[in-house]
Amino acid sequence: MIFAANFKTNHTRISTMQYIMQLQEMLDTNPVNHQVMIFPPMSALLPSTEAVKVGTQNAWHTQNGAYTGEIGLEQLAEFDIDTILIGHSERRNIIGESQELLAQKFDYFAKNNFLIIYCIGEPIEVRESGEEAVAEYLWDQFDGIDINYNRLIVAYEPIWAIGTGRSATVDEINSTHNELRKRVKAPLLYGGSVNQNNIVDICKVSNVDGVLVGSASLDAKNFYEMMRLVN
Ligand code: PGA
Repeated sequence: MIFAANFKTNHTRISTMQYIMQLQEMLDTNPVNHQVMIFPPMSALLPSTEAVKVGTQNAWHTQNGAYTGEIGLEQLAEFDIDTILIGHSERRNIIGESQELLAQKFDYFAKNNFLIIYCIGEPIEVRESGEEAVAEYLWDQFDGIDINYNRLIVAYEPIWAIGTGRSATVDEINSTHNELRKRVKAPLLYGGSVNQNNIVDICKVSNVDGVLVGSASLDAKNFYEMMRLVN
């Protein structure tokens, strides 16, 4: 399974270093059979360790240049980072990134051979309109995206499940991932209120290849325990 931790605007550089050391130590002592990656805030970007891959939550599609507040390839290369989240609902909805911009970013980082975790997910009113509406909404979020890119991972994260404590049900995850699997060959992650109580059931769902975890990943021990539960 793939275990990805999205810190969002949590943790500092020091606490991220401690987190990585703690996680690496637990993985050394008691290894798990999973691919582990974390996405700390930009100020805490660090080189990956043997067992913990570090990626960025965002970057601009440039080598460098005049993009105030952004970082590009040059800044990522300093830490050997080749993994990026694109399309998280918080960037789509709070920051206002359009599908067109996401497609440009995707194209640029794909050309630079990045591992891309591309996030999609519907708002509650779409979910309440039924599965067909959900499918249509999600496929629209692939506009301009090369779903056959060979270093792609797709994360399905219903917006109403993110940070709410209300994960999608196993049935909802099952039907949505089966729909995605019709066209997407890449690994499929589920995200949205994943925690120690639901991780086992979620990971049993067919076509779930891993999870993208926010709140429950912030404590290294908690995140590691989740990995142990499905090992
Ligand atoms: P959550 O966040 O686990 O806190 O719901 C998941 C995410 O936004 O990636």
